[in-house]
Amino acid sequence: MAKGKNYLRLEFYAKDCNLAAARLAAAAFSAEMGFSLTDIEEIKVAVSESVSNAMIHGYGGDETRIVTLTLSAFENELEMVVDDDGIGISDVEQALIPAYSAAEDHLGLGFVFIQSFTDALDIRSAPGEGTSVRMCKRRRGE
Ligand SMILES: Nc1ncnc2c1ncn2[C@@H]1O[C@H](COP(=O)(O)OP(=O)(O)OP(=O)(O)O)[C@@H](O)[C@H]1O
Ligand SMILES: [Mg+2]
Repeated sequence: MAKGKNYLRLEFYAKDCNLAAARLAAAAFSAEMGFSLTDIEEIKVAVSESVSNAMIHGYGGDETRIVTLTLSAFENELEMVVDDDGIGISDVEQALIPAYSAAEDHLGLGFVFIQSFTDALDIRSAPGEGTSVRMCKRRRGE
């Protein structure tokens, strides 16, 4: 359900071109909120990492599956939620350990970047029930 001063929800196939579109949408949305260029770059990385996790890990590269990105603007805060209904995460604490990856060819740094570039990260997931990643970034005063 829509909330906040501004709201944008994107629903898309798990394809790389849509990852790029999601990143651009987050950049436009956060620019409108008055975030600095540095913050906007960080927001793009957070969206990119969470959406690519959904595509790669959640859906194993199946491009017919749906990812959603929901952006909500509050007075001084951006909320970003990335949802998939893929395989889910059995052990969220383990997934957050720096350099832990379920995939051999990955560095296991996505969540590390997200944590350093946002003010809050909340992961809801269960095996077979998909994953919801909620991230918040505060806008600092001028
Ligand atoms: N949406 C998701 N669905 C299922 N598993 C996930 C999801 N997001 C993350 N994970 C699990 O959490 C682990 C850690 O994710 P993280 O992004 O930190 O590292 P990575 O994706 O493995 O590597 P990198 O992001 O550096 O390429 C993943 O290896 C995967 O097992
Ligand atoms: Mg990752």
